[in-house]
Amino acid sequence: MSPFARGRIPLSLRRAPVPWDRQEPTWRAAKPSLIAQALKRAQSRPSGNWYVIGASRELPPGRTLGLTVGSTEIVAWRDGEGGLRAGPGACPHLGAPLRESPVRCGTLVCHWHGLALDGGPFAGWEPYPAFDDGVLLWVRLDRTGGEAPTERPRVPVRPRLREGVDAVYTGVGRCEPEDVVANRLDPWHGAWFHPYSFVDLTVTDAPDAAAGDDDGFLVEVSFKVAGRLVVPVVARFTAPEPRTVVMHIVEGEGAGSVVETHATPLAPDERGRPRTAVVEALVAASDRRGFAVARAVAPLLRPLMRASAGRLWRDDLAYAERRWELRAEGRFPG
Ligand code: FES
Ligand SMILES: [Fe+2]
Repeated sequence: MSPFARGRIPLSLRRAPVPWDRQEPTWRAAKPSLIAQALKRAQSRPSGNWYVIGASRELPPGRTLGLTVGSTEIVAWRDGEGGLRAGPGACPHLGAPLRESPVRCGTLVCHWHGLALDGGPFAGWEPYPAFDDGVLLWVRLDRTGGEAPTERPRVPVRPRLREGVDAVYTGVGRCEPEDVVANRLDPWHGAWFHPYSFVDLTVTDAPDAAAGDDDGFLVEVSFKVAGRLVVPVVARFTAPEPRTVVMHIVEGEGAGSVVETHATPLAPDERGRPRTAVVEALVAASDRRGFAVARAVAPLLRPLMRASAGRLWRDDLAYAERRWELRAEGRFPG
């Protein structure tokens, strides 16, 4: 019987823990050229100039969100209907930082001299197209992206929100977006580099340069729950656009769940080194009855989900930062 047959208890007990150094090395399969090609294909796909700027839940009405994407300072807030508004972060009058300005009934009121922005063009201030997909917030920056703009971002297929539990993790690394994407396009590091989370990882299908656009990595892996208790799943990794890698759980507990990793370039640090925000959305689905309970306790689950993503990303950002350092010094192998 398939380990993924319906109704089966999703947790498995490994017969014996595998000592870390006794697992199968993956480095031969994880060919640098293969990862480089997957990265190149991701980078050749259109993004429509859309950038993820944060989590929907983290921008309630009455607040502002300010950040610098590339070299563009932006401010975002919600209008009177709760719609997302965004535009340049400097006041068009004398340049006040609008991220520090209060929002009154959906209108951003500059705290230096009271200029009021309702989200429409005003006094030289031109809004940026903005989109709230219900989990993440996006802004379209045509000058930064330089591609042909699209009306909407490419939002990955997700479980319907009312049936899922979502959580968003945000971190910042000293690297470029491609380093974050390259880390995600190397699924082979999972059980070696994150032995606290993964075991029994096998990449069963890797994209083939000849396969064209419809490619992805298929990975069989078990998530460690506690001790020898694991949840085996099959996951598929794809890169729908240059700054996004999506992992869909295609078999096993939580099939249909999705983890989306978005990399957004930020302003460089004081030493001119690049910085990139990682915004990772996890939308978990399950047809198990226990999941109704999970939904009810979602506010409690969310910090847990964020914390486990945080632990993985501490390591993955170290990987991405190391990759950038080596590239900057011309020492990157492969
Ligand atoms: S700087 Fe904003 S109103 Fe003067
Ligand atoms: Fe990782």
